[in-house]
Parts: sequence; C-alpha cells; structure tokens
Amino acid sequence: MANVVVVGSQWGDEGKGKIVDWLSERADAVVRYQGGHNAGHTLVIDGVSYKLSLLPSGLVRGKFSVIGNGVVVDPHHFVAEVEKLAGQGISITPDVLRIAENAPLILSLHRELDALREDSNSGLKIGTTRRGIGPAYEDKVGRRAIRVIDLTEPDTLMAKIERLLSHHNALRRGMGAVEIDPNAIHNELMSVADKIVPFIDRVWELLDERRKKGQRILFEGAQGALLDNDHGTYPFVTSSNTVAGQAAPGSGLGPAAIDYVLGITKAYTTRVGEGPFPTEQDNEIGQFLGEKGREFGVVTGRKRRCGWFDAVIVRQTVRTSGIHGIALTKLDVLDGMDEIKVCVGYELDGKKIDYLPASMGAQSRVKPIYETLEGWKDTTAGARSWAELPAQAVKYVRHIEELIGAPVALLSTSPEREDTILVQDPFQD
Ligand code: GDP
Ligand code: IMO
Ligand code: MG
Repeated sequence: MANVVVVGSQWGDEGKGKIVDWLSERADAVVRYQGGHNAGHTLVIDGVSYKLSLLPSGLVRGKFSVIGNGVVVDPHHFVAEVEKLAGQGISITPDVLRIAENAPLILSLHRELDALREDSNSGLKIGTTRRGIGPAYEDKVGRRAIRVIDLTEPDTLMAKIERLLSHHNALRRGMGAVEIDPNAIHNELMSVADKIVPFIDRVWELLDERRKKGQRILFEGAQGALLDNDHGTYPFVTSSNTVAGQAAPGSGLGPAAIDYVLGITKAYTTRVGEGPFPTEQDNEIGQFLGEKGREFGVVTGRKRRCGWFDAVIVRQTVRTSGIHGIALTKLDVLDGMDEIKVCVGYELDGKKIDYLPASMGAQSRVKPIYETLEGWKDTTAGARSWAELPAQAVKYVRHIEELIGAPVALLSTSPEREDTILVQDPFQD
C-alpha cells in the first residue's frame, strides 16, 4: 500500500498528465490538490489527445477522482471542461468525481482583475494564464472567498457576495474600472450551481476512509516547484504551493498520507511567462528543442521558452519536495544532437554556488556553469525498454541521477501512454 504524489520539478509542463495517466492504472483514486485551470495536462492514447486543466487526469481512464479543497474552482470552466470531455466519449458524473465543499471559487471578477493587472503599465508583468488564479487565492487567504459549499445556501449567498464586493469595488475604483453589481455575481453563480452541487462532498472524510481500506491514492500536482509561491522564482510564480507537501492540506489528509514523491522532470528545461531562466537558449538550440518538443502552452498557446537541463533547480526541488524518484520525460527530444549541455552550478558575482538564490536580483544575475556530454545519433523515441536506449542516452540519464541526487523510476520516450519504461514502481516502493 502506498500513496504517490506527482509533482513538477521545474517550471511546469514536464509531462505530469502523461505520467499520472500511466500511473492511474495502479491507483484507486486520483486527487488534484492545488492550482486550478491554469494547468494544462496532456494525455495521448492511441493517437488521441486529451487536454485537462481543472479535472484530474485519472478521469480519462474512468478512475475515481477528486478536486481537493486546495484547488481554486472556476464553475463555468468546470462545466465547459466536463462537456468537452463528454464530446471525447468520457462521461463525468458524481460516481467518478467529487469536489471538496471547502474549495474556493474563481469568479469573473477574478479573471478580470488578473487581466487588468497584467495589462497595467505600473504593475509587474508575470505572464499569468489570466484565468483569475492569483486573485482567487488572495480572496481565500483574505477570508472573503465564495466557496463551493456556499452554492448550497442561496439565502446567505448575497451577503457573502456583498462582503466580497466591498473589497473588490474599492480596488476597482482605484484602478478606474467600473464597479460590479452584486446581482450580476449572484446570477453568474446561480446559473451554474445546479451543475456543481451534485459533485460536492466531504473530501477529507472520503479520502481518509479510502485510505483506511488500503486503497492507493495518486495525488496529481499542477505547475512545478519553481512556480511555488514560497520556493519558486518569486514573484514570477503562481499563487499556490506547488511542492509535494501541499498534497496533504490541499486534500484534507495528514502529512503521513504521503508515501512516495515522484518528481516529473523534463530532460531539458522550459518555462512559460516571465521570470528568470538561467539555462534559457534564446537561439537555434532553443528553437530546435521548442519545435521538436512541440513546446506550446496548452492553456494559452504561448510559445514556451526552452533551454538546457538545469541540475541546480531540480536538485533543489528534490529537497524542497522530498522527491524519492523522478519520471524523466521527453528524452527523445534530444535525439540527434551532437552534444548536450547540463548546468551543474551557477556563478554569482564571481563566486560559484550550488543553489538558486532567493533574491530576485541574484536570480536574474546567476550564470550557468555547464558540463558538455556527447549526444546520440540513434533514436530513443518510442523506446519501451532500457535495452533499446543508445549508450550515450543511458550515460546522460545516469549523469542526471547523480547530479540531482534521485533515481529515475520512470522514463518517458514519447507523448503516447505506452511509450514508458518502468524502472522502479512508485506504488511498490
Ligand atoms: P504537464 O502540464 O506537466 O502535464 O505537461 P504538458 O501536457 O503541458 O506538456 C507536456 C507535453 O509533452 C505534452 O504535449 C505531452 O504530450 C508531451 N510529452 C509528454 N511526455 C513526452 C515524451 O516523453 N516525449 C515527447 N516527445 N513528448 C512528451
Ligand atoms: P501545468 O500544470 C507552466 C505559469 C504562468 C505564469 C505563472 C503564473 O500545465 O504544468 P498563474 O495563471 O498561475 O497566476 O500564472 O505560472 N503557469 C504555468 N506554467 N505550466 C503550468 O501548469 C502553469 N500554470 C501556471 O505561465 O508564468
Ligand atoms: Mg502543462
């Protein structure tokens, strides 16, 4: 018996969706515990691509799934995503999905505020997904959020909306935006309540019961550890904790519920949006990686920035998330390169350091120190056994393990579900 947490170990888009889908065959329940529909998780099964943002990836296999209290839920997006998946033949009913009653909602005013801030000249541009994630989390910690359970209490909903708007309308006046009428928000929520309410549950209780029965829970992280609100490249981060420890409070279980942490790690590095990226290759190498790896954002369609593998940040994530093993993805994208560089440390103001400094200024000044490894001419694409890998590719993987201080448990060699090599089963650890 083991519960596994899947976390992104870089800046997101490491291939978490593919790995969660693959692992969910071995799990009894799949749980999202932070983030919202800023995530974009891709699964490819027999050539058919599924893209999930708010819904747990286990649903594609029909696995029982949960949206935990740590997630911010856009109810209109929820309905749209359920309908989109229904169009792909995946039926989502309360038999297979529950939403935590205490999850906060994302409203239209959060989306608007996200965009207003991103577009304002005075503010710091983060390059968010503009989906209202940050403003919704602000209202949660500000104790004025409308939560999923509030949809079941229409009598008191108006008073909650008025309290929320006393904050937002003051903010909007200051920004020169029109004030919001409470009735508009009330209507917005009531128009969708019937479609959400059947899914509401006491998630903390149902997960604890399942756990006590010996069921295996797979926690699906969104974003990546370098986008964590505490441990990431602040302020160029998302507004939730993305590190593995968040799986417990984000679903209502105690920390002992986590048995194994699997870090999903891309064989190179990408980032979407603004912020420091020491190994970025804004040149033909970055272009090669972006084209071969099809590095375009699932949610916003933006081109992802690409660069060499940065062992410093992944080594740091291994420690801040307590990673037991990694799933190394997209090794096939490196096929055909003459040589491959790996960042093994940084130089900061003439001194060598082996960590990512906390200050925004220092993060923008660090210069990567590279080692160069020999590339390989044979292909790894679609490999399903270790024996199919060229010797230089094996050497690259072994070197990464050594540099980051964690073993490879899974290796992914294409977007397809079955193109995966199992080295050590996280559920059997
Ligand atoms: P996530 O957000 O971590 O789930 O990752 P995304 O879905 O945003 O981005 C990962 C992309 O890489 C998707 O298009 C996947 O289909 C694709 N992918 C996943 N694993 C592999 C792999 O091993 N090789 C290749 N070539 N593509 C992969
Ligand atoms: P998955 O789960 C990559 C980035 C945005 C922006 C920053 C803040 O698919 O790996 P937000 O909308 O969250 O306030 O934006 O975080 N970001 C992601 N980047 N993958 C993601 O999710 C991301 N979710 C948010 O681009 O830089
Ligand atoms: Mg993604």
